[in-house]
Amino acid sequence: MIHTPQTRRRNRVRAAITGVHGYVPDYVLRNAEIAALVDTTDLWIVERTGIKERRILKGEGLGTSHMASAAVKGLLEKTATRPADVDLLICATTTPDFVFPSTANLVCDMVGIRNIGSFDVQAACSGFVYALTIAVQFIAAGNARRIVVVGADKMSALIDYTDRATCVLFGDGAGAVMVEPAPGPHGIIDTLIRSDGAGMPFLHQKAGGSRMPPTAETVSRRLHYVHQEGAAVYKVAVAKMTEVAADLMARNRLTAENIDWLVPHQANRRIIDATAERMGIALDRVMITIHKYGNTTAATIPLCLWDYESQLKPGDKLIMAAFGGGFTWAGVYLTWSSSGNA
Ligand SMILES: CC(C)(COP(=O)(O)OP(=O)(O)OC[C@H]1O[C@@H](n2cnc3c(N)ncnc32)[C@H](O)[C@@H]1OP(=O)(O)O)[C@@H](O)C(=O)NCCC(=O)NCCS
Repeated sequence: MIHTPQTRRRNRVRAAITGVHGYVPDYVLRNAEIAALVDTTDLWIVERTGIKERRILKGEGLGTSHMASAAVKGLLEKTATRPADVDLLICATTTPDFVFPSTANLVCDMVGIRNIGSFDVQAACSGFVYALTIAVQFIAAGNARRIVVVGADKMSALIDYTDRATCVLFGDGAGAVMVEPAPGPHGIIDTLIRSDGAGMPFLHQKAGGSRMPPTAETVSRRLHYVHQEGAAVYKVAVAKMTEVAADLMARNRLTAENIDWLVPHQANRRIIDATAERMGIALDRVMITIHKYGNTTAATIPLCLWDYESQLKPGDKLIMAAFGGGFTWAGVYLTWSSSGNA
């Protein structure tokens, strides 16, 4: 038999999300508090971004792993999974606790998972969808049966709270999913990841990596914070999130009417609205959490799933669409199969 990409895809073990859990820190940073720090107003932030508040991880010595491990611990409890039963853990993050070791390694230790493969994926705001795509390959190849994928970011560690154009946008949080061979007919049907490194000038952190290691000067010049050219990023984000969703719809012969939920990355409410409008999807079928969490980078999509879990029915058709620094963009088409333990 000749194997085409279609038959190869058909013969693979299908992966499914079988559980979801999230964690956000207690501290609520409201627009009014930001307006006391920089020259902005609640009205400007709400009208231009849709964000009313975001969560911030406070507490000395607490990094991204603190939130990721809380989300993973909750996921293990909720899915009645023993740490020993997990055979791969992937952490998507742009704000790792350390340059090394990976945050995935730390999370495993914190939740009592030992002697398995664990690693970080860095694809900025597309990181969760990238990590989920990797998990799907491990399941398809038969190389893992119970994979934890966690997206977590402590963006407050990288934000300059004197820069009004970025400090209003970001927040901290973590979301985790369990990925297993699909227990029934539903699961992850298609994935798509893309990147274009020419996007670097528009969204990056200038210092702290190998190109510009930290010095007293890089700190005094405030080069360790997120640098963003917002208007340029905005345009590409709408174009690429729409493109990835359209590609998935075309590849899977879907029309807007067939899709039950769009799960978009939460960067700006106007980006979400424009993407949904271009796809022809009504806003009551779009998952939105940006008003209360802001942009939590790799955590936005799993936090959406966590928030909307009680509204999801088996078989619901979901399109995830993400966009982030790099540039990176990515999407997933799946039919919902979670055990319904919301
Ligand atoms: C950052 C963003 C909210 C700015 O909104 P915008 O409508 O594009 O605004 P602009 O960047 O064109 O700036 C317009 C004006 O608002 C000002 N402004 C920016 N932030 C402001 C704030 N918090 N409060 C008040 N004014 C602000 C700018 O300084 C600028 O003033 P100027 O005209 O005097 O120079 C928007 O560009 C955005 O969301 N971009 C994409 C961000 C994103 O998706 N990032 C993550 C990708 S994963």
